[in-house]
Amino acid sequence: MKKLLFSVLFLFILFISCTQTPKPEITEQLKSALRSDAKTFMESLKSVLIKEIQTHGIVSAVSVCSDTAQLLTNNYGISKGIYIKRVSFKNRNPMNVPDEFESKVLKMFEEMYSKNQINPETEYVELIEEDGISKVRYMKPIFVQPECLNCHGTEEQISPQVKDVINKIYPDDKAKDYQMGDLRGALSIQKTL
Ligand code: HEC
Repeated sequence: MKKLLFSVLFLFILFISCTQTPKPEITEQLKSALRSDAKTFMESLKSVLIKEIQTHGIVSAVSVCSDTAQLLTNNYGISKGIYIKRVSFKNRNPMNVPDEFESKVLKMFEEMYSKNQINPETEYVELIEEDGISKVRYMKPIFVQPECLNCHGTEEQISPQVKDVINKIYPDDKAKDYQMGDLRGALSIQKTL
């Protein structure tokens, strides 16, 4: 009888420990996976952009880039099981307006930028719960590099043809007048845990 009782108790404890999922936490492994997703995404986007500029010229790159960037964003996310996009307060594409969480982090990045406290290693990770689902949210700053000025620089830096195409596709464009090294926005990743 005692044996049976112990067996039942043992099975009960086993059952409880199996049904209780461990509380998600930000591990170094999770952070480095997100960091590598961010890096790969930014690199593939940049290589598509550079290749298009080199083969078909800057004007063609604008229209190709406007579709490709969104497509790549979707495809990349689906293949990795993550949601990935770029956001900015001074956005060109209306789809790239930051949400509440992204605005909070972008403001923090801007503050760090103004105090010279931002660097290529800067990133932000937070665990959130949305409708009972645990998610990790990751953000990484994006900076303006020399080749970006062709399309995000000052009046003089953007050619009239490029301006024409941009104005046609994005009548509410805010993503210009940037300078080398400026904080352009951020990459934003969400992953369900
Ligand atoms: C050939 C023109 C072109 C070049 C060069 C270019 N961009 Fe863009 N960029 C665009 C267009 C068009 C969009 C809007 C479409 C999209 O990607 O969602 C955009 C959107 C963005 C966005 C998303 C936020 C928003 O404003 O909608 C970021 C961030 C961005 N660019 C950063 C960069 C950086 C950094 C570089 C340089 C490495 C760069 N861009 C070079 C044309 C360009």
